Amino acid sequence: MSVKLIDGKQIAADVRQEVAERAKALAERTGRRPGLATVLVGEDPASQTYVRMKHKACEEAGIESFSIVMETTATQAEIEKEVDKLAADPRVHGILVQLPLPDHIDTEAVLARVPLEKDVDGFHPMNVGLLARRGCEPHFVPCTPWGCIVLLERSGVPISGKRAVVLGRSNIVGLPMALLLQERNATVTVVHSRTQNPEEIIREADILVAAIGKPEMVKKDMLKPGVAIIDVGINKVDDSSRPRGYRLVGDVDFEQAKEVAGWLTPVPGGVGPMTIAILLENTVKAAEKALQPALKTLLG
Ligand code: GUN
Repeated sequence: MSVKLIDGKQIAADVRQEVAERAKALAERTGRRPGLATVLVGEDPASQTYVRMKHKACEEAGIESFSIVMETTATQAEIEKEVDKLAADPRVHGILVQLPLPDHIDTEAVLARVPLEKDVDGFHPMNVGLLARRGCEPHFVPCTPWGCIVLLERSGVPISGKRAVVLGRSNIVGLPMALLLQERNATVTVVHSRTQNPEEIIREADILVAAIGKPEMVKKDMLKPGVAIIDVGINKVDDSSRPRGYRLVGDVDFEQAKEVAGWLTPVPGGVGPMTIAILLENTVKAAEKALQPALKTLLG
């Protein structure tokens, strides 16, 4: 069986195109553009890069973006005040607080301040709870795990009734990923740093989502033939043959996995491009909902 490579760049480009069309249609009907606000606290270079990429992507999709940048020394009250201002701003349909926040900040309290209907990151505790409860619909689902589901579904990977293994239990990826797969009727096991005999569990997976941050940890002999692998890991490893002195690898040994997997995402070019595409999609969805009354009036 030959592996099908899942082209995250192409699927993300398709999603972004769909988002741009929805944003344009909304603007034509209501005279209003969808708006996304980001809150960045501190000077972490990776966070700065992500936020810059998010603003550029908004521009390309016809989404207005607003940027709040605060010093590392900003207080809890100052950050919450900015979030409250964005919450009250009708031009802003989605609010994204870039994580991690500095250590002295109570992150959960900041995330809980974002109104549910503007929580395009899906990190509000109520949205997480709604995702966890059967029969409930969160307003929004976190972007990276939702992007992984889109990759699986658009690639035709069956989920219902399958055994899924999620490597990692982070709030941003592992936890919501496990909930989303379970909701789609997979039987889900979460493997984490304290799991005993992780290889045995991984070997049972029909679907493997790796989000553990360990370069090329998953090897060929740990995989069931035909497994669908979504590799969320983005790890830098030294490589003097590259101009930058490093290359990016996933949590899965790509060359080895290629020989046994049924589906496989590359790193880079797999999950990475999906996160921003889904953020844009969530923002347009937020705007469509917020502007629904205006649409109803216009369309009669
Ligand atoms: N930091 C790392 N990933 C994310 C994400 O998806 N959203 C936010 N807000 N911060 C992050």
